[in-house]
Amino acid sequence: MKKSITRRSALKLFATATVVGAASRTGTASAATQPARPADVWSRTHNRVWLGGEYWANPMEDWQVADGGAECRSLGGNRSIHSLTHQITHPAKGFTMSVRMTRLELRGQDPGAGFRVGVRSELNEYRSNCFVARGLHAGVADGQLVLGPKSGPLAAATAPGSFELLLSGVARGSEVTLTLEARATATGASLGNLSHAVPADSLLGNVALVSNYAAEQTQNAAKKKAAQKVGQGGVRYRFADWKMAGEAFAVRHTQRFGPILWAMYSLSDSRTPDGWVMKLSALTGPMGPNDSQVVELHVQRDGAWQSLGEAKLDPDAWVATFRVPRWNEKTATPYKLVYREKHRDGTVTPDEWTGTIQANPAGRPLRMAALTCQNDYAFPYEPVVRNVARMRPDLAFFSGDQIYESHGGFGIVREPAGPAILNYLRKFYQFGWAFRDVMRDCPTLCLPDDHDVFQGNIWGEGGAKMTNLAADPGASSSGGYAEPARMVNAVHRTNVSHHPDPYDPTPGLQDISVYFGEMVYGGVGFAIVADRQWKSSPERVKVDGPRADHVVSPQFDTGTLDVPGLILLGERQEAFLKKWAQDWRGHALKAVLSQTVFAAVATHHGGYDGYLKGDLDSGAWPQTPRNRAIEILRPAMALHINGDQHLTTLAQYGVGRQRDSMWSFCTPAIAAGYPRWWRPDDVGMPHAKRPRHGRPHTGEYLDGFGNKVYVYAVGNPEVGKAPNRYDRAHEKGSGFGFITFDPVKKTYTLDSYRFLIDPTDGKASNQFPGWPVTIHQAENRGENRLD
Ligand SMILES: [Fe+2]
Repeated sequence: MKKSITRRSALKLFATATVVGAASRTGTASAATQPARPADVWSRTHNRVWLGGEYWANPMEDWQVADGGAECRSLGGNRSIHSLTHQITHPAKGFTMSVRMTRLELRGQDPGAGFRVGVRSELNEYRSNCFVARGLHAGVADGQLVLGPKSGPLAAATAPGSFELLLSGVARGSEVTLTLEARATATGASLGNLSHAVPADSLLGNVALVSNYAAEQTQNAAKKKAAQKVGQGGVRYRFADWKMAGEAFAVRHTQRFGPILWAMYSLSDSRTPDGWVMKLSALTGPMGPNDSQVVELHVQRDGAWQSLGEAKLDPDAWVATFRVPRWNEKTATPYKLVYREKHRDGTVTPDEWTGTIQANPAGRPLRMAALTCQNDYAFPYEPVVRNVARMRPDLAFFSGDQIYESHGGFGIVREPAGPAILNYLRKFYQFGWAFRDVMRDCPTLCLPDDHDVFQGNIWGEGGAKMTNLAADPGASSSGGYAEPARMVNAVHRTNVSHHPDPYDPTPGLQDISVYFGEMVYGGVGFAIVADRQWKSSPERVKVDGPRADHVVSPQFDTGTLDVPGLILLGERQEAFLKKWAQDWRGHALKAVLSQTVFAAVATHHGGYDGYLKGDLDSGAWPQTPRNRAIEILRPAMALHINGDQHLTTLAQYGVGRQRDSMWSFCTPAIAAGYPRWWRPDDVGMPHAKRPRHGRPHTGEYLDGFGNKVYVYAVGNPEVGKAPNRYDRAHEKGSGFGFITFDPVKKTYTLDSYRFLIDPTDGKASNQFPGWPVTIHQAENRGENRLD
């Protein structure tokens, strides 16, 4: 019979220091009863940034494992380590925690450090809880013990040195009495203790270690300066030997995140002697010099595991990429990735990540989920993840903004490249954390966009360095890349290493890598295009607004922005697409995958009344190369699938006349942040030939740049207000797109799903107004059927 922890047994645990904080790997179990993994992970871990799969560190780049403990490298506030495996779910059943703390540095006043309990988001979901900087503090601050609202004396002599911090929770009625004690590490002598009763439910959620309890959680330079001026102190700590026990905890070792974080793969008919080529990337956390630098790939063939060798981890992107030619695409093949984590004591723990390389879909339609823009206010986007999983896609496409600069808090590090990469990686890890179970069993294509390289917008100018960053710190209106090329390349590697080989890998300016190319899968040919990597900067033209990229006045003649020599896709991609449009080997339908839509199908930006005539960030500009790209693609009869806008639209491009070219499906954001609307009727934009369904804001338009565009459907958002993140994401028009390619019927069926729905229940309200829609292949060259 399992026993709950009583006050007496808690004290006994403290007295003998035999708290065991581990359990089996078989799901939920009581920590106290199932010791299996060593309690103290860090004592065995080699020196490195990444703290291990049991933890989430805020922010990753401010922490390191050093000589067997976890050290904070920043004096900043709310640096924390969350346990991923232990959450308090039954507070009344009692718990104990202990940790050894050493103060490494103190400047000014001491804001304190120690445990934080009851850390939970409005979802109380363990991943979302990791980004909450609230809870009950149980630690030391300014030479005192602190426990919630209480404080008490701490024996002064040892305060700055190393000490043991112990916290227990014991039920008393509907409350839990917390007892905090500090003890000298060397002697075990008590340095003081405090008790405090709290409502049991207030303890629900994550438990964390915090270095610097200060509320400050901003990198806003002005605020930071102000805080320093008023003399706010900074402190940083080292933590070791963190133990958790008691039945209050749910212990789920399946919630570990890493060393192998996740994997992504692609499978494509290369139509070369290499045949079908399978490429797969495994991502690990950033490892140290004494850690293993390789990942192994094994596949199951005829019931037996077979090694396909190992691949080296890229020391910036922490991606190990496998390329396997002559893949048998006819059968589904289970795979297993193994990373052998070495420990300081000479032992090795293998970590596995498994999934299935699916057979090439043949003799049936190909079903693709198309996703974009995940703003982490709605992390971990569970409704979308669940719905995509329910749809069992053959292919998942992420068209950009896998991260935003705000991801996970603590701001961005722009330079130097090393810290900037670490700062990026932990944001990118949130993407994998949310979607890894979708990606493990289906091919994934993943394009980097502006926010992925810490820019509000991007006009890549072929890889040029941005020279205007000081005047444009958000990198929102200037041409070129703001980040060091090494960081940009790490971003590219994390996103596209597993893509089919690029068409022509010659890098761009600053040696920034390129990734345009093709994938042939399920009877469909996909062109993967970077529609902003070569694009001209708005600084090359003159608009009327305060920003170089916004046309604000309805009277402004946007024809003046179409100056000769401007670039959209660039010569290299245009040459590729010309060839691709004529090449029908191995497929019967085509689609172009890129970041954004080649039309200005948003009239309002940022706020409901934020009218903009034109946004130079859209693929509507520059007009001449926009038209040229569409003309190049006309013989391909390709559907253009894109994202970026946070506003789902279905539109048909026109060049010489309305409706003479391809259709564009801009998919809803996974979690829409910055809002946009397409409300041409509200601003009196003339239209012709409204579709038979008669919905507002549809029909043939000249967009703000004078481009011909036939808008068939739009999913305008509400203004998001709901306190619950998922309700708010739903209001803001979030969701995902789904495309069913039928290479026999030569059709594309397009679904645009909302956020808080079940796509399998058949309700019409699941989709934005106007969807689903079926388009025939030849409609992409203007042989129109829809009316
Ligand atoms: Fe976005």
